[in-house]
Amino acid sequence: MRFLWFNLDCRDSAPGVAIALATLGIFWTCLISIYDLATVHDTFTIASMAAEREQNLENFKKEGHSAFVIGYTGEIGKVLVKELDEVKAFKRVVLVGRRQTNITQKLGAGFEERVVDFDNLDDYKEAFAGCDVGFNTLGTTRAKSGAQGFVKVDHDYVLKTAEIAKASGCKHFLHTSSQGSDKNSSLLYTRTKGQAEESLKVIHFDRLSIFRPGILLCDREESRPSESFFRTVLKPVFYFFPTAISTPTEVVARAMVNNAISPPSENRTELFENKAIHMMAGNLKPKPEDMVKPVKKSAKETDDNQEL
Ligand SMILES: NC(=O)c1ccc[n+]([C@@H]2O[C@H](COP(=O)([O-])OP(=O)(O)OC[C@H]3O[C@@H](n4cnc5c(N)ncnc54)[C@H](OP(=O)(O)O)[C@@H]3O)[C@@H](O)[C@H]2O)c1
Ligand SMILES: *[C@@H]1O[C@H](CO)[C@@H](O)[C@H](O)[C@H]1NC(C)=O
Ligand SMILES: *[C@@H]1O[C@H](CO)[C@@H](O)[C@H](O)[C@H]1NC(C)=O
Ligand SMILES: *[C@@H]1O[C@H](CO)[C@@H](O)[C@H](O)[C@H]1NC(C)=O
Repeated sequence: MRFLWFNLDCRDSAPGVAIALATLGIFWTCLISIYDLATVHDTFTIASMAAEREQNLENFKKEGHSAFVIGYTGEIGKVLVKELDEVKAFKRVVLVGRRQTNITQKLGAGFEERVVDFDNLDDYKEAFAGCDVGFNTLGTTRAKSGAQGFVKVDHDYVLKTAEIAKASGCKHFLHTSSQGSDKNSSLLYTRTKGQAEESLKVIHFDRLSIFRPGILLCDREESRPSESFFRTVLKPVFYFFPTAISTPTEVVARAMVNNAISPPSENRTELFENKAIHMMAGNLKPKPEDMVKPVKKSAKETDDNQEL
């Protein structure tokens, strides 16, 4: 087996293995420290989304919103749909995907499934009609779809959906990105995720919420060797630093719902790093001294995209 630039099968590979493990160890220690020590900005707003969930839900229900979900058959998507079914925040939820699953038979009233062709989404505009909230948990991997296929799904399909949704009256778009997203990154994954965020900002939804979860914790049905390798090696990290680089899919789903039902903040674009996601889901308690109520700013100042 070749791992990075080390050949682990080679008979005299002991020094190579040692160096490889040391390098990896240092790399992960740095990464984990950076993410674990990161501060959550705007703690008050984020923690309130968890604390005021019940009240927000009650008010939100009265307003009679409708939502669509793309990526609902994925790991985050499945849990999100389950959560949406439980809280009944929306009068109507349209599940938009590439294949019929009949999942609605197991869900309560208000759920509909629509099969679309993401390469010709213009022909399926009606699927998004009347939905003022959109959830995106779509995604693939380079291993599964190739580099071009990955960009097509994680960037192009998301952007096209967002454009059609916006034209159909979508006001709030909730987007699953990833920890480390960076439009200038030299890595395809983080660069594509970063570029998708940038493209979405240009659409100017009334409200755009970007979630950057860490490594997803779930029992993935599909086998992904590299992911399961990391999950095994990093288990102690997930245990001792649960909010640094990992995120249970339930936490992402709960954070998305808590965000969707919360009153809009002053910012058009909200960017939630991993720790913020944990806090928004009620999985990380804020320090009392961080619970500072934000002071109101002028509209002009707050219209810019700000990081959390
Ligand atoms: N895995 C991680 O550790 C991790 C970490 C941080 C962020 N994320 C991000 O989180 C998001 C969700 O991840 P996940 O692991 O829940 O995803 P997933 O389980 O791989 O699910 C992906 C979803 O996208 C759909 N999809 C994939 N390729 C498609 C295509 N060509 N056309 C139409 N639909 C397609 C799938 O539909 P089908 O069921 O029809 O295939 C499924 O609903 C992704 O954007 C991912 O980048 C993942
Ligand atoms: C969904 O239901 C339809 C009609 O009942 C059936 O023809 C189809 O095979 C079902 N598909 C799946 C994936 O269960
Ligand atoms: C990213 O690249 C763009 C040009 O594509 C540049 O304007 C911008 O300053 C860069 N941002 C960072 C954070 O390096
Ligand atoms: C909103 O923007 C301000 C700066 O204008 C920033 O400090 C804050 O973290 C942002 N809050 C949210 C919820 O996006």
